[in-house]
Formats: sequence, C-alpha cells, structure tokens
Amino acid sequence: MRAPLGVKTLNEIRIVGGRPLSGTVAIQGSKNAALPMMAAALLSRGISVLRGCPKITDVFYMEEILWELGARTWWEGHDLYLDCRKAEKTRISAAFSVRMRSSALLLGPLLARNGGARIGYPGGCVIGKRPVDLHLYALRALGAGFVEAEEEICAVCPLKNGERRLQGGEIRFEKNSVGATEQAILAAAAAKGNSVIYGCAREPEIVWLCRWLRNMGARIRGEGTRCIFIQGVDFLKPGDMRVPPDRIVAGTYLCAAAVTRSRICLENVPVHELDAFLSVYRKIGGQYTWKSGKLIADARAVGRPVPFLRTEAYPGFPTDLQSPMMAVLATIPGESRIREEIFEDRYKAAAQLSRMGARIRIRGKDAWIRGGYPLQGCEVAAEDLRGGAALVLAALGARGITGISGCSHIHRGYEHICGDLNALGGMLTTKRNQRTLY
Ligand code: UD1
Repeated sequence: MRAPLGVKTLNEIRIVGGRPLSGTVAIQGSKNAALPMMAAALLSRGISVLRGCPKITDVFYMEEILWELGARTWWEGHDLYLDCRKAEKTRISAAFSVRMRSSALLLGPLLARNGGARIGYPGGCVIGKRPVDLHLYALRALGAGFVEAEEEICAVCPLKNGERRLQGGEIRFEKNSVGATEQAILAAAAAKGNSVIYGCAREPEIVWLCRWLRNMGARIRGEGTRCIFIQGVDFLKPGDMRVPPDRIVAGTYLCAAAVTRSRICLENVPVHELDAFLSVYRKIGGQYTWKSGKLIADARAVGRPVPFLRTEAYPGFPTDLQSPMMAVLATIPGESRIREEIFEDRYKAAAQLSRMGARIRIRGKDAWIRGGYPLQGCEVAAEDLRGGAALVLAALGARGITGISGCSHIHRGYEHICGDLNALGGMLTTKRNQRTLY
C-alpha cells in the first residue's frame, strides 16, 4: 500500500462549440456529500467503505489528509476504503489544509477522537470571504478550547474525570452554514451526553451525513429540519454506504442541454433535491420527464429570460448552480437578473463569459444578463469550480473553438465532464499543459 499520489491535472480543455447534444449519461457520486462522510470515517477505529465515491481532486486531497493523520485509504473501482484504525495523529499541516475548505471539517472528528487537533487554515475556491467562525463557535459550545495562531488553529477538548472529551451542549446558529452544521453534527455524535443544534442548514448533504453516521451507530434525529438532536455515543463502528448522486453535477448537465437546446437523458439524478433548479428550468422553457430513475430533459424550446433569480439556502436555488445558469441565460434573448445571496464574490465567471461576447453587468449582489448575443469561442480562464463549469457550458453553445485554462478547478468537482459531454455528442479535448504532482 502506498500514499495516494494525488492527481495529474488536465489543465486545459478545448471545446468545439455549436454541436447539439443527445444520448444518455449517468450522474457521479456527490462531492459535497462524500467529503463530510470521509471526515466522519475518522470517528471510528475501523475500515469504512464509501461506495460509488467520485474520483475527483477534492476527494483525493481529503484522502491525502487522512494519510497524514495515519489513516490508510484505497480504491476498488469506485468504492473507497478508509482504514482509520491507526489515525492517531492530530496535526494537519497548512500545506494540506489550504487545498480545500472541507479540511476544516476534520477539526470536530479529530477533537472527538484524539482530544486535540492542530490544523492549518482551510482553503478552497476563492468566492468571497469564507470564515470558519461558526465552526469554531459550535466546537466551543461543546467545550473545546482554541488558540488561533497565525498559520493554524490549535484546539483541545476539556479535561473531565481524567479524560479529554467533547461534552454535549446546545448550539444555536444565527446564520445558515452547511459546513458549520456538519461540523457540529460530527462533533456532537461522539461527544459525551446530549446535544441540540438549532438553526441548522437543511441541505441534502446534511441529511446524507446523518444517515452515514447512523449507519456507523450514531444517534441522531431531526436532520433536514432546523433543529437536530444528537445523543453522543462512546464508540462508532465503521460505516458502509453508497454516496448519493451529485445534484450540482446533474444541474450542470441540464444546463448543458439548455445551452445547446438539446434533448438528453440523465441516469441517477436526485430529482427531489433539484426542485428549485427545475422550477427555473421550466421557466426558461425546458421540459423534462422523470421515469424509472431516468430524467429525460428536453431543452429544445428554451428561450425565455428569468426576470429575477435569487440564490438561497436549500430548498432555494443553489448558489453552486448560479454560474452554470448564468451561462444559459447569456444565450436567451431578453434581460435576466440574478442575485447572489450566499457568497459575496461569486461572479468571477461573468468577466470570462463577457470575453466570449456575453453582456453581463454586475453591481453588488446583482448580475444583469442581456442575453441572446452570439457567444464566440476564445481563450478564457477558469477561476473557480462552478465558474469553470459555466465556461464549459458557454463554450458548448458558442461558435468556434474555446480554450479554457485553469481547469484543475473544474476537476475538483467533476469526474468526467469532458467524457460525459463527449458521450452526449460534444467535442471536448483535454490537454495537460502543466504537470502537477503532489
Ligand atoms: C458548502 C458547499 C458549497 C456550497 C455552500 C453553500 C461543501 C463541501 N461545500 O460550502 O459547495 O456553495 O455550502 O451551499 O459542501 N460562513 C461564515 N462563517 C462560517 C462558515 C460560513 O460566515 O464559519 C458564511 C460563508 O462565508 C457563506 C455562508 O456562510 O457566506 C454559507 O457558507 P457555508 O454554507 O458554510 O458553505 P460551505 O459549507 O463552505
């Protein structure tokens, strides 16, 4: 067995635009569900299995962090084995933590398991300020003490009756945060005594995390509502479960159908998690049928702008599909308007879309898109994960050839974006113009 080598990133994608799509592809496992589930595996001293796990860079990064902590991981097909029997180390160096924001999620499990943790500040997509104050607040409410140093966060559990362990408590979130809710759940599941978490985020990934933890023996109820009750347990056993399908990837591929005015079939779509997105999809003229696990999306009549679309916490329109939808709206005649409510700097893709001919005006939280001007292929740069996906979409609907650099961002969340779109009749090629070995 050897440490995961990381990924050799395919850094550039070239796309020949203007080709209609057709055919069927299956949706990969969910990134945002898999990452906290991987963090949760640390709570058991056994071998957990995540079936159908996506092979994406963020998952590889998380694997490397687990190796740094003394765990061992390996793949059998798409099943990821996480052997946490000897994960006794408590330090995550900044070199590892900075690669993605989800590294912060290991704080709670490390405290619960080993009584202390030292972790470099988390990184991730640069989409505005992404503090971790709510994460720290939740852990403090369970008794953890912190020293925030320049480069890392040092945390320790309270000493009670000779043992260092988190203590159940009451957590009240004033703001909706997916990551902080996950952090609180992870920590409370293995704390001593009962916890109540108010003001929880209700995203499907939180529900999946709770199912996974219950699979490991945790006692949790209320997930999917604002209030979650947790009875801490002394031991969690290893889990074995399938990673749910990725609602954001499904939404991205539906946008691919819309931008090319095509009819495609998607398998393994979590339709019930996509209500807000599908409602906008219908507004722009998209149609779909859902039968025997297959979603047939007919976007040939797409052509109506959206007067006002606001991103919101679940069950509202997901911020992760804001940029992909912006690419679609840029192809629809008339004026559309988006308001980004979750992150303060999530319009990076707009400048790149403008280079392709889109007319987009940004003012504060709002983006006005005057659509219908033909998009023209050119050289653009992906600056974040979902913004990068939006450029791929725009390129599919553009005339000529688009070259997208910085595609390592895209591979953080999409396992086979080129392969999948090629299977649907697109023409995408990848090029490794920079070898990245971690
Ligand atoms: C998760 C998702 C990400 C998605 C986001 C919102 C994962 C791995 N990532 O990110 O794809 O876009 O939810 O649905 O699941 N905030 C604070 N203090 C904190 C934490 C967050 O102020 O301690 C703020 C953030 O800056 C942001 C808002 O709360 O403005 C929501 O962030 P949050 O829900 O925590 O997003 P993530 O969990 O980082």
